[in-house]
Amino acid sequence: MSSLASKLTETVAAAFAAEGLPPELGHVTVSNRPDLGQFQCNGALPAAKRVGANPREIAQRVADRLAADPRFQAVSLAGPGFINLSLTDAVLAGHVDGQARDERLGVPKTNPPRRVVLDYGGPNIAKPMHVGHLRASIIGDSLRRIVLFAGDEAVGDVHMGDWGTPMGMVISEIARRQPDLPYFDPDFTGPYPAESPVTMEDLEVLYPAASQASKADPARMEESRKATAELQAGRPGYRALWQHFIDVSIAGMKREFDSLGVRFDLWKGEAAVHDLIEPMVEELEAKGFAETDDGAVIVRVAEEGDRKEVPPLILVKSDGAFTYGTTDLATIVDRRQSLDPDLGLYVVDRRQSLHFEQVFRAARKAGLNGKSDLEHLGYGTMNGPDGKPFRTRAGGVMKLYDLLDTATEIGLKRLEEAHLAEGYPEEERREIARRVGIAAVKFADLSNNPSSDYVFDLDRMLRFEGKTGPYLQYAAVRAKSLLRRADGQGDAPGTILPAANEADRALMLQLGQLPDAVRNAYDKRAPNELCDFAYALAREFSRFYDACHVLSEPDPARRASWLGLAALTLRQLELALGLLGIEIPDRM
Ligand code: ARG
Repeated sequence: MSSLASKLTETVAAAFAAEGLPPELGHVTVSNRPDLGQFQCNGALPAAKRVGANPREIAQRVADRLAADPRFQAVSLAGPGFINLSLTDAVLAGHVDGQARDERLGVPKTNPPRRVVLDYGGPNIAKPMHVGHLRASIIGDSLRRIVLFAGDEAVGDVHMGDWGTPMGMVISEIARRQPDLPYFDPDFTGPYPAESPVTMEDLEVLYPAASQASKADPARMEESRKATAELQAGRPGYRALWQHFIDVSIAGMKREFDSLGVRFDLWKGEAAVHDLIEPMVEELEAKGFAETDDGAVIVRVAEEGDRKEVPPLILVKSDGAFTYGTTDLATIVDRRQSLDPDLGLYVVDRRQSLHFEQVFRAARKAGLNGKSDLEHLGYGTMNGPDGKPFRTRAGGVMKLYDLLDTATEIGLKRLEEAHLAEGYPEEERREIARRVGIAAVKFADLSNNPSSDYVFDLDRMLRFEGKTGPYLQYAAVRAKSLLRRADGQGDAPGTILPAANEADRALMLQLGQLPDAVRNAYDKRAPNELCDFAYALAREFSRFYDACHVLSEPDPARRASWLGLAALTLRQLELALGLLGIEIPDRM
């Protein structure tokens, strides 16, 4: 099955072909002038240009062919040659009824399935996770769900930053504060204590202190660098201490990601590929892809036709250190060896686009990526209401945990204002508020095109009116409650009948669009397509709900048909919101 528009595209394309015109011009979309027709095709205009004829005449010839098709209730022309199409109510209802009978709601799988590695989240060890990592997590997790639903295999990798100078900074800071720990004793023969000498909270203090000290004092910076180099070279005490950082940080991150409903299949980091780096660099040098330049080892990646300069990728700096680019390149090797994916999709801040351009070019040049396509989906900045990168009132970057707490508190207030969840047990109210808070944050993020900046405004995103997560949850809860009440009076969803009025007809048209929304979200890596769809569906459902008095409808077949529409609406909202990572409460 597919969407109505794509089914009609086949029909109209055939009519174009029968007129000796390019069939790809028979593309049909849902009409932006519903008063003129349900669908439109604007292909007669470019067709006329190609064959040097009058567009209106071409449109008329195509329209005459279509008018003979009994599925159309109306075929008309508008303007210079737009073709408007409306289906008969029977065809429309038949299509929607078919969707309701399909387990996948009419959404086809991608063909053939691909193995996709998604790289998102990207928090850094020893540093607290902040709202800056929020976008990567939310967008990446939604894409993982979309890719999975499309029938692909998805592997989400958190790709932690766990191997750079910050690690050496924290090690040398601890060495100053607690020099007697066995980790710093070169003669210690182990085993090292199983318990971490630092907690997540300690790290949150240690890292900023170490970083400031290193910035202020070149000697401290040198100490940090040396500790980093020794850690990477495998000094046992440093490795053991570092492993504690990893363990406590991952525990903390898992808690935060869990509470946000974001999940990963792999918890790998930069360090995981350390042992692949040397052989990789040697191979690249031996094969002539890398060269020595001023003491550094680089891969030249500039290409003819570059409009801006693309500097070489530095693999080894003149002081012997590896770079962020080196680990990313080695990660491509690691993923090829362990997973051999068809696609690597990186959901990382747009400001890193040059970095990924360099890494991808180097990988392709040397064939390190195997059969894998490489794509960077660069997201924009989350700004505060002042238009500057988001900060808390105190000026710091807000932590994820605090953010979700705040969202839950506002959610509770909003439930009260809207007289929702009244009289429910306190625990259930809090759980609803928590879901509302997360839905608000996720939907506000996902409803923008990933590449654009957006304003993070908790008060606005937590409203129950307008294009918000809570509004969509509310629409779905309303459908649930309608179905529950119907069940209570012995009514169940049944066959969807031809429309009875404008409102149920419009709802059916909207329901017919789901496959296109899912397809577009997948093809364009754009969860916002699903947000737009879900919002349009919720609005049509709300009009339907007001216009059609389902439970008191006297005709049992009509009642069952309308319940069928409500049930299908609910399943579509559940699917769309599910792909966005948003949970729907049972009631509110
Ligand atoms: N840790 C990095 C940061 O905080 C993001 C990592 C993104 N993924 C990657 N493969 N480079 O900026």
